[in-house]
Amino acid sequence: MAHITKATSVRDWFDQRIALTKLWNVLAGQYWIPKNINFLWAMGVILTVLFTLLFISGLLLLMYYKPDANLAFDSVNYTIMKEVEYGWLWRHIHAVAASVIFLIIYIHAFVGIYYGSYKKGREMIWISGMLLFLIFSAEAFSGYMLPWGQMSYWAAQVITQLFGGIPFIGGALVEWIRGDYAVSDPTLTRFFMLHVCLLPIVIIMVIGLHFYTLRVPHVNNLEGEEIDFELEAEKYLKGDTINSKVIPFWPGFLSKDFFYVSLFMIFFFYLVSFHFNFAMDPINFDPANAAKTPTHIYPEWYFLWQYEILRGFFFDIGPLKAADIGALAMAFAGISLLFMPLYDRSDVVAPAHKRKGFCVWFWLLIIDLIILTVYGKLPPTGFNAWIGFFASIGYLALLLVVLPIITIKERKANK
Ligand code: HEM
Repeated sequence: MAHITKATSVRDWFDQRIALTKLWNVLAGQYWIPKNINFLWAMGVILTVLFTLLFISGLLLLMYYKPDANLAFDSVNYTIMKEVEYGWLWRHIHAVAASVIFLIIYIHAFVGIYYGSYKKGREMIWISGMLLFLIFSAEAFSGYMLPWGQMSYWAAQVITQLFGGIPFIGGALVEWIRGDYAVSDPTLTRFFMLHVCLLPIVIIMVIGLHFYTLRVPHVNNLEGEEIDFELEAEKYLKGDTINSKVIPFWPGFLSKDFFYVSLFMIFFFYLVSFHFNFAMDPINFDPANAAKTPTHIYPEWYFLWQYEILRGFFFDIGPLKAADIGALAMAFAGISLLFMPLYDRSDVVAPAHKRKGFCVWFWLLIIDLIILTVYGKLPPTGFNAWIGFFASIGYLALLLVVLPIITIKERKANK
């Protein structure tokens, strides 16, 4: 055991037992961040704050929510919204945060793509981030089911049915996921378990992993400059804070982030107070009814691009059924960005505006995703269906064909 002496302060008492100062330095006081970054690097901390808000508001909602197909709708729409004091406020906070977190996740991920933060030693940051995106998608989908309104029910119907396309085991798998032949009470209770227990535990663990993966390569910067963090940290610690290219996570980086988080919170509570409806579909204020299909089923805005890829392939190709091609394309689209470090064959780490071909590619991808999102909400008939088809093909081609070609050229030009 370590030699324990009489403590000179409370801090010293803890230091002797759990090396508190050392831990603090590893986590924050001597965790080095480049100076050359801007507000776009605050998104990670904003995401952490949003997840905390979702967690706290979720705990409060859980006190009154009833995971039972006969009671769920009323427990949300009457008990929480009308009877519990400030229940409406916590529900709006939860719903708006669930929607806005995807906006920030998309910005955070596309900032990573724009600055090439998935390359050269940062692949694990990227992979753990994409895992978070996938688990958050499952978390959002399972949460959407809980109010047991019409959209909850029919979205569950459509999405669980997709597994039916898997050869041989499809039918049995759908039944296993639903816990019944049709979406019903057991489906609700298992998605409830996922939403409030299993997935949050996994999310917390993967956020921990994501933070850990940042430790060795450190965050990127506005120029993609390769910084010798040890050397720069030494300069900083010797007092040459002006010439050092780095600052500590606390107080340097985080105190600036508090400013951006505060600005974001103004925007967030403006939405919660005045525009909470955008995060809730009007059709979901009708109770689930297995006998009445809504005329038009669509997911929340953040899944529309994937949904449009599912619907984009609306005709059979040879022996392949349209529904199966669409399901395959959507499944691939969901995980497609995970492989960014593989599609990009160049090792140039620089912002997109300094990489000509890549910059054009980046904005084409954004435009394509916006088209998919807009058309994902429209009925897939006539002209709309064809736009959906070409935008879906466009998405796949941009990742699988155009990006490798552009980046191989870039690599050759830089030799
Ligand atoms: C709730 C989910 C997430 C949380 C809480 C989170 C948190 C963070 C934090 C705190 C940072 C460091 C500061 C910053 O660059 O913003 C960071 C960096 C990063 N994250 Fe995430 N992140 C999440 C999701 C994602 C997703 C979905 C991706 C994309 C696949 C991603 C990719 C990255 C990358 C590439 C970096 C490094 C940025 C750089 O080197 O400049 N993260 N994340």
